[in-house]
Amino acid sequence: MCGIFGYVGKKEAPAILIDGLKALEYRGYDSAGLYVAGAGLVKAVGQVKNLEAKLTPDFKGTVGIAHTRWATHGVPTEVNAHPHTDCEGKIYLAHNGIIENYGELKAELIGKGHKFASATDSEVVAHLLEDFVKAGSTFSEALTKTLAMIRGTYGLAIVNTSEPDRLYVARKGSPIVLGIGEGENFLASDPSAIVPHTKKVLYLNDGEWAILKTDSYQLFSLAGEEIKREPTVIEWSVEETKKGGYDHFMLKEIMEGDNVIKNSFRGRLLEDSLEIKLDELKEVEEKLKGIKRIIITSCGTALYSGMVGEYMLEEFAKIPVEIEYASEFRYRSPIVEAGTMVMAITQSGETADTLAAIREAKRQGALIVSIVNTVGSTIARESDAVIYNQIGPEIGVASTKAFISQVTIFSLLTLYLAKLRGVASDEETKKMIKEIVALPEKIKSILERREEIKEVATKYAGFTDFLFMGRKYTFPIAFEGALKLKEISYVHAEGYGAGEMKHGPIAMIDPNFPTVALCLSDSVYEKMISNVEEIKARSGKVLAIATVGNETLKTLADDIIYVPETVEFLESIIAVIPLQLFAYYIGIGKGYDVDKPRNLAKSVTVE
Ligand code: G6P
Repeated sequence: MCGIFGYVGKKEAPAILIDGLKALEYRGYDSAGLYVAGAGLVKAVGQVKNLEAKLTPDFKGTVGIAHTRWATHGVPTEVNAHPHTDCEGKIYLAHNGIIENYGELKAELIGKGHKFASATDSEVVAHLLEDFVKAGSTFSEALTKTLAMIRGTYGLAIVNTSEPDRLYVARKGSPIVLGIGEGENFLASDPSAIVPHTKKVLYLNDGEWAILKTDSYQLFSLAGEEIKREPTVIEWSVEETKKGGYDHFMLKEIMEGDNVIKNSFRGRLLEDSLEIKLDELKEVEEKLKGIKRIIITSCGTALYSGMVGEYMLEEFAKIPVEIEYASEFRYRSPIVEAGTMVMAITQSGETADTLAAIREAKRQGALIVSIVNTVGSTIARESDAVIYNQIGPEIGVASTKAFISQVTIFSLLTLYLAKLRGVASDEETKKMIKEIVALPEKIKSILERREEIKEVATKYAGFTDFLFMGRKYTFPIAFEGALKLKEISYVHAEGYGAGEMKHGPIAMIDPNFPTVALCLSDSVYEKMISNVEEIKARSGKVLAIATVGNETLKTLADDIIYVPETVEFLESIIAVIPLQLFAYYIGIGKGYDVDKPRNLAKSVTVE
């Protein structure tokens, strides 16, 4: 995700800002920029060192803001890099988050004569501020008025050149922390950049804004009332702060689950009218109306999210869907008839097999619509339309948060296509949308019980083989659960459709071969229970993932991890979280580096 850093004090700001950005590099970014009051604006594509190389010795000043951008709107270029400014270059700002209504605001401002330089959502904030200031507001008034107008999320750091002794800062949804020093103050999106300077920090709450000067800070509510709060002292090391206080990026990324879902549907799910809006598909909408078939192609975890997508799209949007290993699709002479839409699902946007698969599909004339996390990546560029995950980079090699985001986006796409094709009932769509909105809280409730999952994992840590089984929407989750365990704990695990048990795997069952059975209360629950009975009859151990309130499994399974109830359509998201945590705890129990498992790479750019 993007990083923000700001400094106000007596020292030379440029070097401090560059160090601040370097401390945020681990978050991933594609371009960087800074503004120093009195010196000016500098931006560069690529690494912070490219930005540093552009700073001349006479680039001096003691107040400034800096940003590393991880693109969500507009490709990574210097123009799109932050800080952004207004028409006259009087206001400079760096923004994290997404302004959902920027399209409408931008159109309105252009109508009033504002000139926009970038394709970003962020720039609209600078022009709104300018507009209010020109109409006679003080800068503080302009800020509160602007914040009241923008929908979405923001962490904002702003320099108003008419008041060059201070920084304005605001937060909603995107974290902002102030660092309180001696004769100098800092701001950052993440405390890891502040800890080298001071351990006295003050976290802004959502809906708060602040003025930061060399010797003071003032906090305000959106209504403009001053808030009194003392800083706290953080004890974390720099390394720990990067991981948000968690031991590993993998755990941090699993624990972000509730926000990952919210960010994935942000701006796309209108809670008031219970509608789905996928503006990124506008340009291909006419073609989408006529598609006869969808092929989903990807690798690894992304492939399993595609399997969930296949079930969703066929059941609710009534479109024939096939799921294809990208590594096979590219070589097996596939036939892509007219009216086929091919979807690549990819976190990195650079996976070699997935890229080759869409190139083959494109060669045969298919419409390419992809779900990608990395803006500007090769697959994003080569697709006709892209739905971005909007969840920030995933750092742990074993994919966790990308999976739940991909499935969330499939749920949105399914409801969108169902409506577009006239096969959706309004009532059902609204019910589904309400369930999507309820997902973050449900995920949170599982994450809060992670110690319980850790205890279960400890119990099972000594086994060397596992079977994971599920049916229908939990069928792909059986594969994903087994993959996670293999990837980070190097334990042999197989994912299987429970219906296939009798065709082989049941021969393996004995007291030393436990089964993780996905027995959620859904349309195939009874079938799953029969499979569990068969395993128990052969002295197999069973760890069940069950819907809260299930009493039957208490007498049948050896252990149970309960998950909240949801509709079958979304249960894969709920079911995968305990399996991610189960794998994580087994992996760390064995002392492995779960963030960088042996032999694996985050982005597989070679075959
Ligand atoms: C690698 C990663 C996996 C990922 C897969 C596909 O194997 O380790 O976590 O699921 O590639 O990557 P993509 O970037 O295309 O989603």
